[in-house]
Amino acid sequence: MTDASHDWQEWHTAYDQPRSPLSRRLATVQGCIRVALDAAPPGPIRVVSMCAGEGRDLLGVLEDHPRRADVQGRLVELDPELAATARANAPASIEVLCGDAGTMSSYAGAVPADVVLVCGVFGNITDDDMLGTIDQLRRLCAPGAHVIWTRHRRPPDATPGVRERFRAAGFEEVAFRAPDGTMFGVGMNRLLASPRPFADSGRLFEFIGFRNLGDDVCRACGFTYSVGRVEIVPWLRSDADAFVAKLAAIDETRVRVRPEPETWSPLEYACHLRDMLGVQTERIELAQREVDPVFVPMGRDERAVNNRYNEQDPAIVASELLAATEALASLLEGLDDAGWRRTGLYNYPEPALRTVEWIAIHTNHELLHHRGDI
Ligand SMILES: C[S@@+](CC[C@H](N)C(=O)[O-])C[C@H]1O[C@@H](n2cnc3c(N)ncnc32)[C@H](O)[C@@H]1O
Repeated sequence: MTDASHDWQEWHTAYDQPRSPLSRRLATVQGCIRVALDAAPPGPIRVVSMCAGEGRDLLGVLEDHPRRADVQGRLVELDPELAATARANAPASIEVLCGDAGTMSSYAGAVPADVVLVCGVFGNITDDDMLGTIDQLRRLCAPGAHVIWTRHRRPPDATPGVRERFRAAGFEEVAFRAPDGTMFGVGMNRLLASPRPFADSGRLFEFIGFRNLGDDVCRACGFTYSVGRVEIVPWLRSDADAFVAKLAAIDETRVRVRPEPETWSPLEYACHLRDMLGVQTERIELAQREVDPVFVPMGRDERAVNNRYNEQDPAIVASELLAATEALASLLEGLDDAGWRRTGLYNYPEPALRTVEWIAIHTNHELLHHRGDI
């Protein structure tokens, strides 16, 4: 099974939203990179990054780190556009290889490295590949090298096993960060054992992609229903910000145009999301007051016609969408555990009693999914 690389460009847009959990993860990773560079002895510092994307973690640190002139290395990224963006932002001492980070040969000439970045990889490969990669990292490392890695902590949380495997593979733990209100883990380990010789052949992992690993993932947009409760509100806010930013970038000549007669225009999608957010807020409030209320369908198609979605002002709709997001976010932030667990009869995708938590997660899915529709 392969992973569609074009989705990764969309994935990177969450970095443009300062309130997104991904931006928070970036700050944590960059903090670890700074610690590793600060700790490096005088002289050149070799860095390699697996599945580097746009390389925002390392390249962001290099903008102002005092050791920036000493840093050289290689970013390995499969997607040509992401690799090109990384290349455009990288200093001359950082090479960007557009290739498969899962093959050992991609690191020939760039190792042994003093810092190895394995960020956004472990959640996209099988557990066997994840553990096997940790075992093989010594082949890429210089003595005392730092490895900085990430892995989400959604159930079943794999990070305890990852941390243990690093210890067993000869790496001491320097730091493990799992900030409150997040579902990511960022680890930093230092090689204590001796490095192993590099071999120019063989594989570390097959990048399958999280969309193809879980059962609860929307194949179309990559949204996962196993999002942790603490992530729901940050993602609601940042996905609403991202939708509004994308809407604002759409030309006046296209914003009201339906690409096909049965497909909504970007403005109609925006109106739908605004109204959907309001309806979900009312449903969650109702579920707090009544026992298992039956939620009335919102009549999405009728609203589009009756409320003349396509004649509304895009800027006003955008600000109403953000206000509706904020109303829902503050309602959710005020709930206690019992409030999140309350239920109501929801009719989509099939009639079922759903918890408030599920409704909030589903609302987040709508925001992300329809961003792909405009
Ligand atoms: C989750 S993102 C992580 C990007 C970056 N490391 C970060 O944390 O911002 C995964 C990246 O791996 C890239 N990718 C997928 N398969 C790959 C492969 N076989 N070799 C190298 N990169 C790959 C994707 O295009 C994507 O940019």
